[in-house]
Amino acid sequence: MSKKKIIIDCDPGYDDAVALLLAGGSPDIEILGITTVAGNQSLEKVTKNALRIATLIGLDHVPVAAGACRPLLRPAVKVANYIHGESGLDGTTLPQTDRRIDPRHAAQFIVDTIMSEAPKTVTLVPIGPLTNIALAARLEPRIVERVKEIVLMGGGYHIGNVAPMAEFNIENDPEAAHIVFEEKWPITMVGLDLTYQALATGKVKERVSKIGTPVGQFLNDVLLHFSETYKRSKGLTEPPVHDPCAVAYVIDPSVIETRKAPIHVEYQGQYTSGMTVADLRRAAPADCHTQVAVKLDHEKFWTLIEQATQRLANRYEQSF
Ligand code: BDR
Ligand code: CA
Repeated sequence: MSKKKIIIDCDPGYDDAVALLLAGGSPDIEILGITTVAGNQSLEKVTKNALRIATLIGLDHVPVAAGACRPLLRPAVKVANYIHGESGLDGTTLPQTDRRIDPRHAAQFIVDTIMSEAPKTVTLVPIGPLTNIALAARLEPRIVERVKEIVLMGGGYHIGNVAPMAEFNIENDPEAAHIVFEEKWPITMVGLDLTYQALATGKVKERVSKIGTPVGQFLNDVLLHFSETYKRSKGLTEPPVHDPCAVAYVIDPSVIETRKAPIHVEYQGQYTSGMTVADLRRAAPADCHTQVAVKLDHEKFWTLIEQATQRLANRYEQSF
């Protein structure tokens, strides 16, 4: 079976790091590129983190392209230093790297890659604010037809996290999210309703602590510090590990149950800016191009992450 080709647009970030580990260690995935966007931390910091994670997990051949340093209209991203720390990955150890980033803007990289691959073969996996994806759609509208699908982490149909009804990635750039959701490409929205089922429970952390390799140790540190900051800021000892849920769905759609529903982004509301409004009142119309993630198979999900980490550990050891 041929591998599924993806571009990951990210802002690492603890859970973004887990998403990269999962994709990098999956035999079913070919990562065509990693693009970065300001979100959990500044563009400079998340790009540095992406390069260093790529080095740790043996993705030296995968291009890393930096994108938007701020939202389309709004002044600046509200970074999540209260969760991910000043570096974006506080408390973890990553190898230094002298790798260069791709000279192209992330949006240009996304356009070039989708246009040069066969139609309907590339999946976009955005797990940060949607600024780069919106820019890419405006830069080259033909990518909308050409892409296979978008599987994104963001939004939710029930609750928010940074505001009563808004999730961090969407709330940071609602205008970009509006552009992305209004284009007619197939979108799976893996939102908070789903990711709050992807808890790093005590049992999960115990399993990870036993991997005992450099990549396993990195994952262990990520989960430990993510748990500590979630406890401090939200009172949760078992944090929801959001971003790898989107990658898991690409690897194996049976991990997540979905439901078709029209989704629109509120970008003007006084109290609801950044809300993803999913209409679940009735069966979606036949031409509906969006769906929401509803239910996670927790055991299958964490097994995928554990197995990917094991594979990467072997690869890492062979290269040193
Ligand atoms: C999302 O916000 C970020 O802090 C995480 O990396 C994730 O992408 C969850 O709301
Ligand atoms: Ca993220």
